[in-house]
Amino acid sequence: MNLVILTGAGISAESGVPTFRGPDGLWEGHRVEDVATPEAFERDPLLVHTFYNLRRAKLLDGTIHPNPAHLALAKLARSKEHQLLLVTQNIDDLHERAGSPEVLHMHGELLKSRCTDCGAVTPCREDIGRSSVCPACGHIDCLRPHVVWFGEMPIGLDEIGAAISRADLFVAIGTSGLVYPAAGFVSWARQAGVRTLEINLEESAGSGTFHETRRGPAGEIVPQWVAEL
Ligand code: OAD
Repeated sequence: MNLVILTGAGISAESGVPTFRGPDGLWEGHRVEDVATPEAFERDPLLVHTFYNLRRAKLLDGTIHPNPAHLALAKLARSKEHQLLLVTQNIDDLHERAGSPEVLHMHGELLKSRCTDCGAVTPCREDIGRSSVCPACGHIDCLRPHVVWFGEMPIGLDEIGAAISRADLFVAIGTSGLVYPAAGFVSWARQAGVRTLEINLEESAGSGTFHETRRGPAGEIVPQWVAEL
């Protein structure tokens, strides 16, 4: 089978990575949209760096590991029977740690920085600040997280669109269906006549658009579903 799988923050929740929209929808009193925009970075770079530095440090503190959902998708990716494009909105590296050979990070990666002067994207496991130096061009105060902010173009949309149009099944796992264009992939799939499945703990904004929805924690439901395939 030809599959496109889209994952969101919900797949990493059981690994201990906080989702974006907690119960109060806020981070330290800020709306996510207020710390994840180019305007916020221009206005208050320290606040934006702190938001991502805390997330990066947490990802690397040794307490976070891939869960059975990441592992089941990695097993699926390695099976010869199916063709899979794994797209994630997540900026963590848990799909890679689980062994997924190729992951399209449409919203970028926390463990990479990008230079606003020379454009180089380089591995990054440390805090970024205004005194950080670009490893490629040596300039100072020019690094930003390699993440896609609100108002910026997600990565790989052409590839994702092409893969969805020739897929047999589109699956969305642990995503609230609130952030476009990812939230619209299910409609792209339906327009192309592709079957659609949602796996989520709760009803999401997009639940009604899927042919089928399965409710429950990704760590349980995803391995069950992969075993059924
Ligand atoms: P959200 O935090 O908006 O939504 C997480 C979803 O996961 C919700 O629908 C939960 O019901 C579900 N969920 C939580 N725990 C789960 C579990 N154990 N098993 C299954 N589902 C679970 O996260 P995203 O939809 O990924 O963008 O957010 C989309 C984008 O908004 C992010 O990529 C980020 C953010 O702003 C950018 O930074 C550009």
